[in-house]
Amino acid sequence: MSLADIDRSRVPVHIACVMDGNGRWANIRGLPRTEGHAAGEAALLDAVEGALEIGVKWLTMFAFSTENWRRPVDEVRYLMNFNEGLLLRRRDELHEKGVRIRFSGRRDWRVPKRVIRRMDESAALTASNKRMTLTMAFNYGGRAEIVDAVKSIVADRVPIDKVDERTIRSRLYYPDMPDPDLVIRTSGEYRISNFLLWELAYSELVFMDVLWPDFRRSHLYEAVAEYQRRERRFGGVRQQ
Ligand code: IPE
Ligand code: IPE
Ligand code: MG
Repeated sequence: MSLADIDRSRVPVHIACVMDGNGRWANIRGLPRTEGHAAGEAALLDAVEGALEIGVKWLTMFAFSTENWRRPVDEVRYLMNFNEGLLLRRRDELHEKGVRIRFSGRRDWRVPKRVIRRMDESAALTASNKRMTLTMAFNYGGRAEIVDAVKSIVADRVPIDKVDERTIRSRLYYPDMPDPDLVIRTSGEYRISNFLLWELAYSELVFMDVLWPDFRRSHLYEAVAEYQRRERRFGGVRQQ
């Protein structure tokens, strides 16, 4: 799949990816699972490049879920260090490309302080970039995000008749982020795994067989081409 196959006038504004399959990628090579996460870095960077090339304005990547704490401690520790290192290695080049980096998820005691510090530094460094917003969903859970929104509504004693969909949206982690037009999940699993539950109500879902470390911008283009073949209705009927 190449750039030429994409209708540049109908590129999704927001693409969200569930970067899945790192462990299996490593397994079939007889490597520890952590090698799969390491190999996923190149895939992430190529996906960012591809998204920039076609003019995607928002890209959201699922890097660590609120359920991933269930993994062996060594793998969790590796993922914390890996994500910290990834920021150190890549934030300058992302900054030069005009990417604004953000983090979405819970900042609870389990996330090491130094990882939080790197996140804050990277977000501050890139805060005024306009070309694309790259949101890393880290210690993110869709249900947790909705719970946090409800807590903030209750804490502010919002009257019950003032609570509507807009109220909830305004208390999500990033109310300015448009809903994803396209959600891509790699590794051949057909599930959402607690990603962006509120936001993906009307997203087009594309499931791909590729394992995340093998993902390249050509796969992104393939998913965008599939998206462009879909008809979005939002509950209505097609305009004649
Ligand atoms: C996705 O790959 C990365 C994270 C969840 C952090 P996995 O580690 O889930 O890989 P598989 O699904 O076991 O192959
Ligand atoms: C989703 O993948 C989370 C991330 C990609 C960070 P998982 O591998 O954790 O999801 P399940 O366990 O297969 O549903
Ligand atoms: Mg997985």
